[in-house]
Amino acid sequence: MVAFPTETVYGLGANALDEAAVDRIFCAKGRPATSPLIVHCADAAMARKYAANWPEAAEKLAERFWPGPLTLVLPKAAAIPLRVTAGLETVGLRVPRHPVALALLRAAQVPIAAPSANPFQGLSPTQAGHVLDTLADLILEGGPSEVGIESTVLSLVGAPTLLRPGMVTLAQLEEALGVTILRGPAVGGERAHASPGQHGLHYSPRTPLYLLQPGDPNPPGRGVRLVLPSDADSYARDLYAALHEADRQGWEWIAVAAPPETQDWDAIRDRLKRATHS
Ligand code: TXA
Ligand code: MG
Repeated sequence: MVAFPTETVYGLGANALDEAAVDRIFCAKGRPATSPLIVHCADAAMARKYAANWPEAAEKLAERFWPGPLTLVLPKAAAIPLRVTAGLETVGLRVPRHPVALALLRAAQVPIAAPSANPFQGLSPTQAGHVLDTLADLILEGGPSEVGIESTVLSLVGAPTLLRPGMVTLAQLEEALGVTILRGPAVGGERAHASPGQHGLHYSPRTPLYLLQPGDPNPPGRGVRLVLPSDADSYARDLYAALHEADRQGWEWIAVAAPPETQDWDAIRDRLKRATHS
């Protein structure tokens, strides 16, 4: 079991074809068995082997966005154990673009199942130093993650449906496919199990996090207001590191200004909403 860098966040990986290895990931994270893992592959040809079918849409998106921060959910091939997919007949497949992740995948010559390398519902790590050393046998150092938030998850089972927004945006996906993409269940919504693992409270720091509108007063007690970049890409890149750092400093609250309502900020608003308790 190895923690390794990807361009989104650090992952906690094990051989996706080995149930005992995959079990160790669930145990180490305290992750419920109902939460499926993403299977990482060295290239699209490898990913294709682990999908029971490979529609035209998968081919188009793989060509355009892989290697990169996009996970495609497809019917799974028999070789992928049900333990990996939380009993689902579908599998999330992704080709990451971090050179260390790709080198690891090529050396391993097997697909690697990997959730983010944090305890269940904790903040995802975007630096090797964020990964608890008790979590993995080995941590590969790959510098800070350049994207900074988890991959976009798109289901291609039935009508294309966005299950988790990410920095590959809905607009980019719709443009590439030439169709309208449905939006999956809202955060914490009643249909949460249509996308297992999309638990409402997720990605959160230990310190309560508040989203402040302009003019809002500070919450009571000693806290810190984070100042983050004004463009979405840099904001996403820096967000988790800023939250990890503020969490470490032991404040009574952390606050961030509510981000813009535009589509390029969708993924960031999604993560901030999940991280706030209110
Ligand atoms: O950027 C990322 O995706 C990172 C890096 C390490 O690749 N991984 C990551 O994994 O964020 P994790 O386990 O923290 O989140 C996986 C997400 C969950 O929301 C899960 O529900 C969804 O992917 N997912 C995985 N397989 C699925 C499936 N078969 N059907 C529906 N959703 C699936
Ligand atoms: Mg995670």
